[in-house]
Amino acid sequence: MTAAAGPSGLSGQPGPSGQPGPLDPVALLADLFTGEGARDYLGEAVSVAAHMLQAAGLAEAAGAPRHLVAAALLHDVGHFQSDRGGHDLMAGRDNRHGETGAAWLGQWFPDEVTEPVRLHVEAKRYLCATAAGYIDTLSAASAYTLTVQGGPMSPAEIAAFETLPHAEAAVAVRRWDDGAKDPDASAQVFEHFRPLLAGLVRP
Ligand SMILES: [Fe+2]
Repeated sequence: MTAAAGPSGLSGQPGPSGQPGPLDPVALLADLFTGEGARDYLGEAVSVAAHMLQAAGLAEAAGAPRHLVAAALLHDVGHFQSDRGGHDLMAGRDNRHGETGAAWLGQWFPDEVTEPVRLHVEAKRYLCATAAGYIDTLSAASAYTLTVQGGPMSPAEIAAFETLPHAEAAVAVRRWDDGAKDPDASAQVFEHFRPLLAGLVRP
């Protein structure tokens, strides 16, 4: 699949005839959450879909604005949007899933949703370098992928990251991400978030 390709072979792009393809992004996402997202675990005790639903639930419980609930819900979709997917990352090849996910979501969603998605891996690297004890809280899989993703940020990278307008939002999403790997946690179903997502899609 290309970077713009979607889950289960759905592209969300105009077809060869020039006619619109299956462009309902919420339907595409629903397919992802019930399909390959529910089947892939990527080294954690919960599926990627369950993980993202837990992250969104934590954002919602924290009273986050709806664009950050959406970012938490969608932060790992990039694992499914590229030839280099989540299994490549777990095999030691960075799949740059933040960038890939943000680019795919950017077909429909505004920057306030996509930029925290883009930056959530960088936020992990930032927190590892700046937040005491944070690195020790990472799951085993996340500690492993940190080594693939560049490790803790350098001072220059920290300074650059802090200038980004969505850095703080990305750090918030990262915290919900890290807290969303509990196999015993109850989580909302995708349908709970459907109205919120639909309300964020650009007209
Ligand atoms: Fe995640």
